Amino acid sequence: MGNIVTVASGKGGCSKSTTVMILSANLAARGYRVAVIDADRNQSFASWHAQAYEGPPFTCRSEVDHIKVVDLAGELAENHDAVIVDTAGFENLTAASAIGMADHVLIPCMPDRGSVRETMRTAQQVASLSKAARRTIPYSVLLTRWKPRGLSERAALDSLEEEKLPILVQSFGDLADFTKLSFSGTVPTTGKVGDQAGSLIAELVAKGAIPLAKASRVRGKAA
Ligand SMILES: Nc1ncnc2c1ncn2[C@@H]1O[C@H](COP(=O)(O)OP(=O)(O)O)[C@@H](O)[C@H]1O
Ligand SMILES: [Mg+2]
Repeated sequence: MGNIVTVASGKGGCSKSTTVMILSANLAARGYRVAVIDADRNQSFASWHAQAYEGPPFTCRSEVDHIKVVDLAGELAENHDAVIVDTAGFENLTAASAIGMADHVLIPCMPDRGSVRETMRTAQQVASLSKAARRTIPYSVLLTRWKPRGLSERAALDSLEEEKLPILVQSFGDLADFTKLSFSGTVPTTGKVGDQAGSLIAELVAKGAIPLAKASRVRGKAA
């Protein structure tokens, strides 16, 4: 049984789909059996996958119905190591279902006031759905388009830390390679972006958000 990771935020344009692109391709490159569900009506991920993506293959399905998305994720988790759900940038039932069924929720946050506000609201939504489900739904904040020494980054980080939100150590930089992705369909799995993706994956594995890659599991057994 694989893990379900939902990428969510009430903020549109805060890097949800880009994060799913980087994660899915980099997990596939590391031998994971990956499935992505595009649960956003705009279908930007699904069309990118069908028309532009060139890289290690992974499953991509579209489902915007808030009931069907739960069944589909469960079904895909049976024969994939990681099921990643890309959600729409506003509060909606499908995103709530995708948060409710997640093993881990990833909230991307860019260094601007709107992004920070929506990160906090999404964190509250995860907490409230945890209460409703009577289980803890783990989540973490992924800083993205992030300049380590930027001024707005400092202000954004202060606000997030004040709320005691769980922030991942690894961030995604403000790099042209991320912006180019949506046109080129080639996802870097080496170099700066590949390194950032690799460290993020390691951190998510350590948190139990995604399982160890199959190859590592086999090596682990043999050792
Ligand atoms: N780390 C990053 N560095 C530079 N540009 C980024 C980064 N992350 C996202 N972007 C750009 O920001 C825009 C919005 O990203 P997108 O992933 O479509 O957001 P969402 O899915 O949340 O609406 C896109 O043009 C994307 O290329
Ligand atoms: Mg999107």
